[in-house]
Amino acid sequence: MTTDRAAAKPRIVLDCDPGLDDAIAILTAAHHGRLVGITTVNGNVGIEHTTHNALITAQVAGLDVEVHRGAARPLIAPTMDAARIHGATGLGDVALGELRRSVASDDAVAFLCDTARSVDDLHLVAVGPLTNVALALRRDPDLRSRLAGLTIMGGGAHAGNVTPVAEFNVWADPEAAAIVFREAAPVTMVGLDVTHKVLLGGSEASRMRSAGTPASRFAAGLLEYAYDRCREFGLEAAPVHDATAIIAVTHPHLFRRSSHPVTVELHGEHTRGMTVTDVRPPAAIAAEPAPPAHDVVWDADAQAVIDLIVEAVVSA
Ligand code: BDR
Ligand code: CA
Repeated sequence: MTTDRAAAKPRIVLDCDPGLDDAIAILTAAHHGRLVGITTVNGNVGIEHTTHNALITAQVAGLDVEVHRGAARPLIAPTMDAARIHGATGLGDVALGELRRSVASDDAVAFLCDTARSVDDLHLVAVGPLTNVALALRRDPDLRSRLAGLTIMGGGAHAGNVTPVAEFNVWADPEAAAIVFREAAPVTMVGLDVTHKVLLGGSEASRMRSAGTPASRFAAGLLEYAYDRCREFGLEAAPVHDATAIIAVTHPHLFRRSSHPVTVELHGEHTRGMTVTDVRPPAAIAAEPAPPAHDVVWDADAQAVIDLIVEAVVSA
């Protein structure tokens, strides 16, 4: 790695709720980006677990990165989780050693706001419920203008996973997501449209495991647990949603995207948490007071993205 190539890597602050794919996203961000910090949020499991899991992931991979604990509950919605997918403590059944690290602070929102002020060309990548990001926007209304990019793993134009139309991260805190989509345009939405096309299975887990490092064996275990869960749903491989969102930042040329108004549905009896994506031609909506436009990611060179995720893991 030359200094020039290292300098070209985007600076990333990762807001996450580890979570199997969040942990792999941490490894991916540390390899393909310059990981400036990690903030945690309640989501897949409670905040104590997501924070512990972020710390243990950084420890296993030997990452020199601060972890800041964030929101323990959604803004308004009741607290939900995805323990059915990620396991009761969030990292499946992977044996975790003793944690020797501790959080740098209990104020993820302050860290996000301060880092956006002090670090140039910062990409905020949020791969959990958007509670911390919404609170940061409330604390600093200029936050978005200080960022080089705001990318989320969440939502989707055409399908949900928790409900027929809602994806977990948006569904888990829809009021927060609504603030982010309303006040922080453009958001790059790496939703289920694309993440369901980047599937990792047994051969990728074997490639990871055969690298033989503590971090690669750890990630292989996470992936194996994930695709075992997916088999219960009749799938042979697992989407690694959050790591895909990282690659959308570090290797944007591998993705197809287009700009559309997106609104978060808050009131529908059957549609709460849906990211309503207006794909009508711009001329058809020009006369209407359209909500802000966002970059909706539709598709990717899936094999290239998979290879980059595996590369990150085997290098960790
Ligand atoms: C998202 O939900 C979580 O369970 C995953 O970590 C990912 O961020 C996928 O819908
Ligand atoms: Ca996540």
